[in-house]
Amino acid sequence: MSHTVTASITATTQPAVERVQHQPNMAGDNALRLAGLAKRFGTTSVFDDIDADIGHGEFITLLGPSGCGKSTLLRAIAGLTPLDQGSIHVGQDDITELPPQQRGIGMVFQHYALFPNMRVVDNIGFGLRMQKVSRNERERRVDTVLRLVELSDQAHKFPHQLSGGQRQRVALARALVVEPRVLLMDEPLSALDARIRRHLRDQIRDIQKSLGLTTLFVTHDQEEAMLMSDRVFLMHQGRILQQDRAETLYTRPSGSAAAGFMGHYNLLDAVEAEPLLGFRPQSARVALRPEALYLSLDGRPFGGDLPPRVGPALSGVVRRHRLLGNIVRYEIVGSTLTLNIDTLNRSTRTLLVEGTQVNMYADLDEVQELSE
Ligand SMILES: Nc1ncnc2c1ncn2[C@@H]1O[C@H](COP(=O)(O)OP(=O)(O)OP(=O)(O)O)[C@@H](O)[C@H]1O
Ligand SMILES: [Mg+2]
Repeated sequence: MSHTVTASITATTQPAVERVQHQPNMAGDNALRLAGLAKRFGTTSVFDDIDADIGHGEFITLLGPSGCGKSTLLRAIAGLTPLDQGSIHVGQDDITELPPQQRGIGMVFQHYALFPNMRVVDNIGFGLRMQKVSRNERERRVDTVLRLVELSDQAHKFPHQLSGGQRQRVALARALVVEPRVLLMDEPLSALDARIRRHLRDQIRDIQKSLGLTTLFVTHDQEEAMLMSDRVFLMHQGRILQQDRAETLYTRPSGSAAAGFMGHYNLLDAVEAEPLLGFRPQSARVALRPEALYLSLDGRPFGGDLPPRVGPALSGVVRRHRLLGNIVRYEIVGSTLTLNIDTLNRSTRTLLVEGTQVNMYADLDEVQELSE
């Protein structure tokens, strides 16, 4: 149970949502600044040197593999885990030493963490009761956030009478009702099925935008990060490797670790890459996305015309294909390297079967040279 984190700023006489909406857009007022954060459990470092500036109203996803330290970082920002080093500012305020309930930070967890014996309205209103907000005011604010998460008709149910998606919306409403300056969400959608997940993604993003709420959202799902964020922070082994807009992170990974996590890149060392590029790259490694590689079959382009600048043809044999809905990803084995190559899945085209002889080409304008 995690009611300690439904922290709040001072009580107000205006409804929750309106108050946030009408806040003047002061530069940095509700921004989040992390400086030199470090955390150890015993002698083991969980994260180190975490520096980040999140702008007012920005939606950031913290993306990284299991165990890289995402939840621990979020818990440290919320004040649930003490830091070993560093400082945290919300707007102009240093909150590093404040208890969770005084940080102005709302948090939503992966597993709803609702009070099972309380109805939806009371779960949501709990934080306001703790703040001794008057009953009228409480009802008004709970009502506002219930409408925001589209649960007004479920207000008097208990958590066990709700679906997973509805419970997570209650958890979101409970975090929002106390008007946090910053919202933290730790894989809030990962326990939900794909359809609900897609719907809730959009709903969370719409609500966040309408409130202008500075948000840090954790996921290990690359697609989710790409779809939702203003910027993505890519975390790996306790460090933030790259902070960039989603499209930049995808097309311009900063190094092998970033490329390895994003977009199913083909990672080649310089010697492997040379026959495909027609020259020896300057860098030690290069990364090529599956959609930056092209195929020809019997001398004709297969799956799309070749781009203007391609490297030499490299022959190979289809080992397998993976059907990814709109994309077919072929694994092609050449004499010195194996590549994943994407083509669009079209009804007018048959799939290439195992053993088919093809030629492979690299789009030279899409080669990413990696420094490490
Ligand atoms: N209370 C603790 N005591 C000791 N080690 C811990 C504790 N909590 C977390 N760790 C360790 O810290 C590391 C980071 O854990 P964390 O839960 O932050 O990862 P995560 O990125 O959220 O992973 P996941 O995607 O699986 O949720 C892991 O190696 C974990 O074993
Ligand atoms: Mg986690």
